[in-house]
Amino acid sequence: MKILVLHGPNLNLLGAREPEVYGSMTMDDIDARLKGKGRELGAEVTCRQSNHEGVLIDALQDARTWADGVIFNPGGYTHTSVALRDAISAIGIPVVEVHLSNVYAREEFRHTSLLSAVCKGKITGLGWYSYKLALTYLAETLGN
Ligand code: DQA
Repeated sequence: MKILVLHGPNLNLLGAREPEVYGSMTMDDIDARLKGKGRELGAEVTCRQSNHEGVLIDALQDARTWADGVIFNPGGYTHTSVALRDAISAIGIPVVEVHLSNVYAREEFRHTSLLSAVCKGKITGLGWYSYKLALTYLAETLGN
């Protein structure tokens, strides 16, 4: 089983970026933990990050050719991107939307996601556990 972990804009700065909101783990720390967890669960985890909407769309379209599921933190594009929503709808593999912070405890503009309705589900506010739980879900359900 193959899982894509896709990080959107500014998540490459994790660790340094607003640690009181996003925690002290770097993106590489999260990726390493997810790869380890994937090995335990029998899932091969590939991690990618981009600050560019079009590159994220290309990554989602490409995932259609090789991945069984996607864990996607769309960052700020969550709240703005019709094009990412269309890409998620188009690819036909399960995408779980994840956020490190609890978007509902933050500014009102973060309460709206253009993507949630076309995702399998959404996990928000649990730090890196948001990704870990999404991985457990995909590995266990896709494995059956
Ligand atoms: C985020 C929440 C978004 O609102 C924000 O723009 C991010 C990170 C999160 O993981 O908590 O960049 O997706």
